[in-house]
Amino acid sequence: MKGVVLAGGTGSRLYPLTRVTNKHLLPVYNQPMVFYPIQALVNIGIHDIVIVTGGHSAGDFLRLLANGKDFGLKGLNYGYQEGEGGIADALRIAEHFAQDDSICVILGDNIIENNVCEAADRFRAQGSGAHIVLKEVHDPERFGCPEFADGKILRIEEKPRKPKSSYAVTGIYFYDNAVFKKIRQLKPSARGELEITDINNMYLKEEALTHSILQGWWTDAGTFESLQKASNLVASTGANKMEGAGSGAYGKASVMAGAQE
Ligand code: G1P
Repeated sequence: MKGVVLAGGTGSRLYPLTRVTNKHLLPVYNQPMVFYPIQALVNIGIHDIVIVTGGHSAGDFLRLLANGKDFGLKGLNYGYQEGEGGIADALRIAEHFAQDDSICVILGDNIIENNVCEAADRFRAQGSGAHIVLKEVHDPERFGCPEFADGKILRIEEKPRKPKSSYAVTGIYFYDNAVFKKIRQLKPSARGELEITDINNMYLKEEALTHSILQGWWTDAGTFESLQKASNLVASTGANKMEGAGSGAYGKASVMAGAQE
């Protein structure tokens, strides 16, 4: 399985902070935001990673991340999204990189307290289809939100006015290689984007979508409120924790890097 970090977009909800840099390079406590999703991929054993970015500060990613040494990686790959086509449009850029492999996609502004080892194991065992990671939240209307019947997901709605559950679909997705064919069938949504929620609903229709519930906290960091919340959470508990590993966000990244060499 290969890893895809989606780190494009204008970050308009964070203007003026994002006028001169990309949202995913802003600090979340003591690290640039994009460090957290990269570490989350490394923690599930993924070492082949592409960062898909866009906009005016794309070169800064290369200067910051170089070949991924901070994460114990031997190399990193980069993709560039032209324009503002949404998450599924950005994912399209990763097709060439993925070749025939399955992928774990993580949005560059998603930060987790622990790890998604359990979800990764379930997806690996499943062998095909898709697997998404859910988290109970107080504001499901901000996210992709599942409707359940008998413990099974019936449908996922993107930012529903009247959410049908209190769960959010986090920005951590596992897909088989058929995802790229599905992206080619997508039509832009009302907000003019290719929606990742439409992809998940396609897998649902084929009865090929499974889910798990994330343990520990999860947050995005794309608004002033959530950016501050993310910093506070990382400062108080640390992020991307693995059982038995060191504590503290940057310390953690170093511990993992060291452990792999
Ligand atoms: C995106 C997805 C949404 C998902 C969220 C997770 O929302 O469209 O389904 O729940 O990421 O962070 P956006 O960041 O575009 O508001």
